[in-house]
Amino acid sequence: MTSVPVTLGDRSYAIAIEGGLIATAGERLRALAAPKRVVVVTDETVAGLHLPALLGGLAGFDPQSIVLPAGEATKSFTRLERLCDALLHSDVTRSDIVLAFGGGVIGDLTGFAAAIVKRGVPFLQVPTTLLAMVDSSVGGKTAINTRAGKNLVGAFYQPIAVWADLDLLQSLPLRQMQAGYAEIVKYGLISDPAFFDWCEANAPALLAHDRQALAHAVAESCRAKAAIVAADERETRDLRALLNLGHTFGHALEAETGFSDRLLHGEAVGIGMAQAFRFSARLGLCSGQDAMRVTRHLQQQGLPAWPGDAGVEPSAATRLVAHMQHDKKKTSAGLPFVLARGIGEAFVAKDIALADVEAFLASDAP
Ligand SMILES: NC(=O)c1ccc[n+]([C@@H]2O[C@H](COP(=O)([O-])OP(=O)(O)OC[C@H]3O[C@@H](n4cnc5c(N)ncnc54)[C@H](O)[C@@H]3O)[C@@H](O)[C@H]2O)c1
Ligand SMILES: [Zn+2]
Repeated sequence: MTSVPVTLGDRSYAIAIEGGLIATAGERLRALAAPKRVVVVTDETVAGLHLPALLGGLAGFDPQSIVLPAGEATKSFTRLERLCDALLHSDVTRSDIVLAFGGGVIGDLTGFAAAIVKRGVPFLQVPTTLLAMVDSSVGGKTAINTRAGKNLVGAFYQPIAVWADLDLLQSLPLRQMQAGYAEIVKYGLISDPAFFDWCEANAPALLAHDRQALAHAVAESCRAKAAIVAADERETRDLRALLNLGHTFGHALEAETGFSDRLLHGEAVGIGMAQAFRFSARLGLCSGQDAMRVTRHLQQQGLPAWPGDAGVEPSAATRLVAHMQHDKKKTSAGLPFVLARGIGEAFVAKDIALADVEAFLASDAP
């Protein structure tokens, strides 16, 4: 089994990566925290597929479960209020554990509820999507969406552990696997050219659920994210901001496509990363070859790499820039962009003129 530490003083925890984890959930929990009770929060899809196995593993803790609708709309004030009420109704205390069992939607919402119910009850992340295993379950960012935008109300609240049970991915549709893969390849593009080489060689096996490839990619991703989070937990330095590679361009595309199933978050990040490299090449920061290598790699894995792949034409450039200006990362100093000097050499640029971004977007087509 692989265990990746997240080192954050008294908030440190470990990410366990293996198949079959949920079958032994009870033993693991006893070794970890010996809670009195466990309240599982999940969505309807995951409940239908995997909840009985988890509850079986937790026998002995008299687990309760709260099942919410699947989908991004669940990250709302309304659902948060109902979830807090349900947790209070089940009289959850600091001696109990709230277990988030699902993708990033369930993890973000449940983590936030756990942070605020009784000013904080322990919570455990058991991610069930590839994206949640390599990104959202690690690092302690929790949030809901509001009318003003995505993830604008939330808290930094670390879980007591993350259990990435690779067997759960067997039921995940290919499109969701591809979307999660975009966040994996991101770590190579940010700072690890050797891992990008590995991705080029192993992505097809990973997407076909090869166990070794999955275990390696999840572990490498968690290690990369844990290192950044340990050094910059609350994104007060530029370090954690590097994780936003592809996200400023990507969020604009998500906004343009109405945050809908037309374009999944990971797909938007895929296009956004390719754009960050193409924009960097246009500015003379990195080679056109590197930009094309990134673009081609994403396409070969079945991911979109151009805005046009998501039905967003170059004529949308002005609107895309307007979406970016609503991005929460905007500060008085302007909008930071994560750009690159090459594969594995990402950096935060703060002096980018939006007119240059717009001119780039207006011509960004194959
Ligand atoms: N907190 C963070 O640091 C962070 C980082 C990245 C993304 N996020 C957030 O994560 C969310 C996206 O997460 P996601 O992509 O996991 O989406 P998701 O939670 O909506 O899951 C995607 C779909 O897959 C289904 N599903 C989940 N597990 C499954 C399984 N094992 N088999 C079959 N179907 C399964 C879900 O029911 C859902 O329909 C967004 O809200 C995003 O803002 C947060
Ligand atoms: Zn992301």
